[in-house]
Amino acid sequence: MSKRIEIFCGTGGVGKTTLATARALQLATCGKKILLITIDPAKRLKEVLSLPDDDSGQVHRVPAQQFKEFCGEREIHLDALLMSPKSTMERMGKEQGTLEDLDNPIIKILTRPNGGMNEIMATIEVQHYLKSGDYDLIILDTPPGKHFIDFLVSSKKINSFFDKTFIEIFKYVGKSIGKSEKTGLFQMVVSSGVKKLLSYLGKVTGADFVDTFIDAIIGLYKTKDSFLEALRFQENLKIKEFSNWFLVTSVEQQKMEEAQEMREGALQFMHSDSYLGVNKCLGPHLSDWNPSSREQQTLKDSMRDRENRLKEAAGKSFDKVLEFPVVLGASPNQHVIELARAFQDYDPPV
Ligand SMILES: Nc1ncnc2c1ncn2[C@@H]1O[C@H](COP(=O)(O)OP(=O)(O)OP(=O)(O)O)[C@@H](O)[C@H]1O
Ligand SMILES: [Mg+2]
Repeated sequence: MSKRIEIFCGTGGVGKTTLATARALQLATCGKKILLITIDPAKRLKEVLSLPDDDSGQVHRVPAQQFKEFCGEREIHLDALLMSPKSTMERMGKEQGTLEDLDNPIIKILTRPNGGMNEIMATIEVQHYLKSGDYDLIILDTPPGKHFIDFLVSSKKINSFFDKTFIEIFKYVGKSIGKSEKTGLFQMVVSSGVKKLLSYLGKVTGADFVDTFIDAIIGLYKTKDSFLEALRFQENLKIKEFSNWFLVTSVEQQKMEEAQEMREGALQFMHSDSYLGVNKCLGPHLSDWNPSSREQQTLKDSMRDRENRLKEAAGKSFDKVLEFPVVLGASPNQHVIELARAFQDYDPPV
């Protein structure tokens, strides 16, 4: 069985998006059909790939000529998708005939960028494309640090949302799903945290709000199959044969420590066979540098020592360490091409 997904994670600014794009380019150049998905709120992928300036959540084909220097005349099948929770929700609504139920002010707020459901919607979107069978491999660029952990935790949230919150709300409301009348709204059924919350909301915001809230819950409930389906993807993250995951760091003491911490947090959800990608290494440039003075030589030695120490420390905690050079030159395109070359040398199996 070949792997279905590769995940790039790490703390802020270490090069996740650039490396994920480079890997996508490298694999697409080998003839694989690749979808690159980003949940990066900064939308840097748009900049790197010169994607159209819209947030429609649509899949875009990446034009090969942009990376001609790497892929030559070969046709590549590389698609990219910038996550949009709103359009994921719309797609679900269309598929399940519940679009009207999802046309609710609270759901609209929740599915705004950074509206609180981004990570959950991303899980659903990834599962959708895995199931579609349109791609050999999906490459997932994740948001920095804590948000990545939120992404992993989202399956637990989905579970408890449908298991607990719903049952309590419906018990309280005393209304069966699908009925439109709101008569049972304030019927006292159970004494629960949800009941207190709803009556509090009723008092401070008026019954209309509670109605809208209940409708939002019903709308979500009707699409619950997509939510529950997404749990399967997260379960699969524990299986080594299903995924490669790359923890990205740059050669700085603090970033290395952050990577270590992140790994601890992620291990509850993912298999332990990870790669550490050490990005922005000076090594290759230092080797090419012939200092012309003693001061320069001292500088070169101390830079090399520092980097070697950091890499040694990384090697103790991670079995598989991949080094990526710092790319001189400002163009993000060039960064991607150079890093795709480095990936070609390592070629981690999929
Ligand atoms: N090997 C490299 N050499 C030089 N510059 C690099 C390298 N890798 C990445 N960069 C540059 O570093 C910057 C940050 O990279 P990138 O956006 O990929 O990081 P990120 O981890 O995705 O950031 P964020 O946490 O904000 O999502 C970009 O300007 C990128 O072009
Ligand atoms: Mg990024």
